[in-house]
Amino acid sequence: MTAVQLHKDGAHKDGALSGKAKIAGVMGWPISHSRSPRLHGFWLWQYGIDGAYVPLAVAPERAEQAIRALPALGFRGCNVTVPLKEIAFRTVDRLDEAARRMGAVNTIVVAEDGALEGGNTDGFGFLENLRAEQPEWTAESGPATVVGAGGAARAVVVALLDAGTPEVRLVNRTRARAEELAADLAAVGLDGGVSVVDWLSRETALDGAALLVNTTTQGMTGQPALDLPLSALPVSAVVNDIVYVPLETPLLAEARARGNPVAGGVGMLLHQARPGFKAWFGVEPQVTAELTRFVLEG
Ligand code: ATR
Repeated sequence: MTAVQLHKDGAHKDGALSGKAKIAGVMGWPISHSRSPRLHGFWLWQYGIDGAYVPLAVAPERAEQAIRALPALGFRGCNVTVPLKEIAFRTVDRLDEAARRMGAVNTIVVAEDGALEGGNTDGFGFLENLRAEQPEWTAESGPATVVGAGGAARAVVVALLDAGTPEVRLVNRTRARAEELAADLAAVGLDGGVSVVDWLSRETALDGAALLVNTTTQGMTGQPALDLPLSALPVSAVVNDIVYVPLETPLLAEARARGNPVAGGVGMLLHQARPGFKAWFGVEPQVTAELTRFVLEG
């Protein structure tokens, strides 16, 4: 492999890619907030790869058309983000097990034969981050309490059940959404171990838990803190917030102050990107402190 001169953000110093450049990107609507071009751009620079990872702003009504065009355009594949993950799920030719279970695709790889392979690496990213931040934690170590019932919660719950968590307690402000998620998981064979806890009784879901995960938007900059008193949570429980702006949410600060081991959310974003990068560009990338700083600066 010939190293090419790249800026850290993935742009070539001489402003040009070679004719052999490998191309991938991230498709979403809107896409301007996405940190993925910066993340993959850093890795392209770090590993000296002749390639590009571009933002693809695609409106939902044109997403199927855009996804189907990837092989014809010579794309190696792309990431898919909100609100297009379900459309991608319905559009690709083949699904991996994680995508099938989540009903959503976040990584598309164009296979040798031109077929679109859809995967979902959000659960992988969640688990890899947790294991990197808190190596003592194991999925089998006890019940997990998951707050929220959106797309992120779906990925987290599937990953936890697949990894062997004995019991997942699902708490959501709108109970019906949590029940719908539990029913969807049952429909794909993940029916053991999920219980729905009412929002008004949410504190009881913390009793004896080994893991607490916030998948809601609460605690994000500009949003109020997650309204969840922690007094019933064992101090041994790992607390993970998938929010990463700010890096230390009020939930993580409170958990840390009372002695709980904590894990931030940015690692989930970084780790979920690894399988796609490997598939498109042929290198297994590493998540490092330098990468984390670079992605957060942008
Ligand atoms: P994503 O797909 O990224 O997970 P989402 O589908 O918008 O995002 O889900 C956001 C989650 O945050 C939901 O679980 C939502 O609860 P509802 O289903 O009741 O809407 C939760 N959420 C948002 N605002 C909240 C609030 N003020 N208090 C508690 N939960 C909240």
